[in-house]
Amino acid sequence: MTDMRNGSGRNPRIVGHVTLADRRAFLLGSAALGAAAAVGLGTRRVRAQERAEISFASAAFFGSETFGDLAKAYNEAQDRVKVTYINLPPPSSSTEVYQGLVQQLARRTGTPDVFSQDVIWIAGFAAAGWALPLDEYFPADKRGDYFPGTIAACTYGGKLTALPWFLDTGMLYYRKDLVDKHGGKAPTTWDELTEMASAAQKAKEVEFGYVWQGKQAEVLICDAVEVIGSNKGAILSPDGKSCTINSPEGVAAIQFLHDTINKTKISPKDVLSWDEEPSRQPFTAGQSMFMRNWSYAYPISQDAKVSQIAGKVGVAPLPAFAGGKSSACLGGYQLGVNANSKKREAAIDFLTWLSSAETQRRIAINFGLGPTRPALYKDQKIASENPFMAGLEPVFSGATPRPVTPDYAKVTLALQSGLSKALLSGEVKKELDAVADRVNTIVGG
Ligand code: GLC
Repeated sequence: MTDMRNGSGRNPRIVGHVTLADRRAFLLGSAALGAAAAVGLGTRRVRAQERAEISFASAAFFGSETFGDLAKAYNEAQDRVKVTYINLPPPSSSTEVYQGLVQQLARRTGTPDVFSQDVIWIAGFAAAGWALPLDEYFPADKRGDYFPGTIAACTYGGKLTALPWFLDTGMLYYRKDLVDKHGGKAPTTWDELTEMASAAQKAKEVEFGYVWQGKQAEVLICDAVEVIGSNKGAILSPDGKSCTINSPEGVAAIQFLHDTINKTKISPKDVLSWDEEPSRQPFTAGQSMFMRNWSYAYPISQDAKVSQIAGKVGVAPLPAFAGGKSSACLGGYQLGVNANSKKREAAIDFLTWLSSAETQRRIAINFGLGPTRPALYKDQKIASENPFMAGLEPVFSGATPRPVTPDYAKVTLALQSGLSKALLSGEVKKELDAVADRVNTIVGG
């Protein structure tokens, strides 16, 4: 076993295979450091030698600061661990972020020590043995501070293989001024949304009625989960073994998306090449009455420096079909420790800080991302910065997951291609039948 600090072999206390004795030694290490500082020994030199160096890789979320700034704040707040941040592409490039992480984790070299993982990768990373089970560090009595659903999403094969970080769900953004004019309250059905959007378009108040994300990318699955779920359908059967996307409910829901472009014309054809940011831009430029997006778009749309509609933006649960119930896709990134990290204790220390109430508050305010700790939905500071958040606690906590399977990476590529063909061609039933067959061969139906 090698020493974890600079490979110098000088401090054998923190080693790759961590036991409880190692954990005590880790804590002792920082106490010794404090003592050295207290007696005035060249503190900086001691610190450089003593600090465990770890790396943290994450998709680059959009906010008034970066995750690199978070790592810096942690480095400044303590002297046990030093984190180097590895910036991956933005979360809208989900497939690229996934591939970048897989390349690293599959090498089993221990880099990155800590990573953030989209909720859809947790099962796959755990099944591959790349994510360290965290049960020993976060036993059941420590998990009650988080939403039970998030703990469930972080659990695979009965083990906690991720620590909850933040939640993200799809939601409906609307122009309050236009909604006041055309109905008075945010639409709760897709029919109402279509009527209100068409009326505003007809009155030439906006160019587009509704902008969403139809690009052949991960976000298309999210938009599809929401419309299908809001029509009492689902992508997979409850046992997860067969694909039900081509059910009458699924077909009608995807037909609705196709119609927004081709029939009711509340959406521009361009939505088929838009992911999050290209759809957010026309909305904050004042060109659309409604938008489906994640919570990161809220602070941007209310910022008068970048938004033409600051002060006029409302947020509500996404509409449903008549007889159905609003459905918001569960998104968000959770934290993982590389099973091959040689610096587990340091990694856990950083993980604990990232997931703490204080850091989650900072992320809620600076990135507009939902805490995984229910208590923070009553937090005064968050409520005054991002008032929409408290109101959407039930949306965050009751969100609909995408298929939970270790084969998600294959499932999503098949779905992305099939949905894209359905939306482009309009042959919805035919394309969904074909994609259901492909997904069935993956999930073993
Ligand atoms: C958001 C969500 C994530 C999802 C991605 C799709 O970042 O948090 O779960 O996969 O969008 O673009």
